Amino acid sequence: MKLLKNEELLKLNNKILNAYKDKDIVLGNGNVDSPIILIGEAPGAKEVEQRKPFVGQAGKYLNEFLTTLEIKREKVYITNIVKYRPTKESAKTGKLINRPPTEKEIEKFVDFLFAEICIIDPEVLVTLGNTPLKGIFQNDVKIGDVHGEMLQAEIDRKPYKVFPLYHPAAILYKRDLKDTYLKDLHILKGILSEMGVNI
Ligand code: URA
Repeated sequence: MKLLKNEELLKLNNKILNAYKDKDIVLGNGNVDSPIILIGEAPGAKEVEQRKPFVGQAGKYLNEFLTTLEIKREKVYITNIVKYRPTKESAKTGKLINRPPTEKEIEKFVDFLFAEICIIDPEVLVTLGNTPLKGIFQNDVKIGDVHGEMLQAEIDRKPYKVFPLYHPAAILYKRDLKDTYLKDLHILKGILSEMGVNI
């Protein structure tokens, strides 16, 4: 079973790498048999440097949250919807800085994300922030309206549970979100334990 998933993932990853030969691609990473998949927005500079999702500042917060859930990071699968770093030139410094992915970029990557989800086939998709939500629901659902609630999405004709969390970097900018985030994590922890999900 595991070998099959790894083989399928390898094929998919090669497709992504071939489609974006001109970009520094950061692929999904972690336990392919994880019952949850964490889906972020897009890699930042540190992620590109290490070719691994969530290893920079946002990753530090994510690790804290996983500790709150008593989940070891290596036990889960972590990915981003957009798999290269979207950048723009800073008007102040002229240096490349992060920017949110455009609708077009999200649209271009959504089929790859759906294929990745179907291979991992987890019990719960945990989305981080607005961008993966936008990709999965293909409408203007906003994280502020749905965080901490279990939603349903049909992916490749299969129903999946989706639990939206704020993006971990959001609390960098809005400290008062931390309590909300912790509350949502406890809701998720309760749901996972009710579902009998052991990680
Ligand atoms: N933010 C994301 O959404 N993904 C990463 O991998 C890093 C930061």
